[in-house]
Amino acid sequence: MTSAAPTPAAARPMIQVVDLHKTFGEQKVLTGINLTIPEGSTCVILGGSGSGKTVLMKHMIGLLKPNQGQVFVDGEDIVPLGDAEMERVRRKFGMVFQAAALFDSMNVYENVAFPLREHRKLPEEQVRELVRAKLDLMGLSPSVEAKFPADLSGGMRKRVGLARAVIMDPKIVLYDEPTTGLDPITTDYVDEMILEAQAKLKVTSVVISHDIASAFNVGNFIAFLSKGLIIEFGPPEQLRNSENPIVQKFLQTWFGKN
Ligand SMILES: Nc1ncnc2c1ncn2[C@@H]1O[C@H](COP(=O)(O)OP(=O)(O)OP(=O)(O)O)[C@@H](O)[C@H]1O
Ligand SMILES: [Mg+2]
Repeated sequence: MTSAAPTPAAARPMIQVVDLHKTFGEQKVLTGINLTIPEGSTCVILGGSGSGKTVLMKHMIGLLKPNQGQVFVDGEDIVPLGDAEMERVRRKFGMVFQAAALFDSMNVYENVAFPLREHRKLPEEQVRELVRAKLDLMGLSPSVEAKFPADLSGGMRKRVGLARAVIMDPKIVLYDEPTTGLDPITTDYVDEMILEAQAKLKVTSVVISHDIASAFNVGNFIAFLSKGLIIEFGPPEQLRNSENPIVQKFLQTWFGKN
């Protein structure tokens, strides 16, 4: 398998989270997150169940407001923004959901074209060109266009989901648990897809995961989240050599088996 390409050292931050705190009632979920994701890189946010990965991701797209702290997206602090402004910022993101979240009643072509129909008025000819180009980029031939999600393999559904997520040319792609629940071969196929998308689209990617093998395959950086804090951040090698006992214990569950 190919591995993540190195990020240029001087890349500017595409996402920067500064001293982020989030409390639900009595429960302190995020307690001072600092995280910088350079433009063009893939950052995996790794952590156990309930560690706050999804809550952190929701702050990046403005679905949650913090109690304290800042979230910069492409240089702009999004925390003070209202709904209309947030909508503008959200267009910088493409989202790939866990279950691919395709519309079952629509064929592949209509699924991928959906965001274009929602946000732009384009002649059908142009819609067709854009859909073809994105499917082609994902290694899917035009023959899949007429198929329905139920007729596709799990891996192909992910590729269609990614084609739809990037149809508007976002700067950032967010993957929420892209490999959870998949068999090992499909997991490899999805990892490969993330790496290819990275190389071809030059986007910044944020991958939420608790899959260690996958994190090591796709990440330029891994941020390890535990009890509301990033307790380790760096290239996969740094995580592998972490002296933090919580990180070590988490890694043992995987490296112990390999
Ligand atoms: N809207 C909410 N209201 C109250 N509590 C919430 C809310 N969203 C999340 N939480 C709590 O915050 C904690 C972190 O949740 P989160 O979904 O971010 O975990 P996670 O790391 O994504 O876990 P998983 O790997 O299981 O998806 C959990 O204890 C959860 O119950
Ligand atoms: Mg989650």
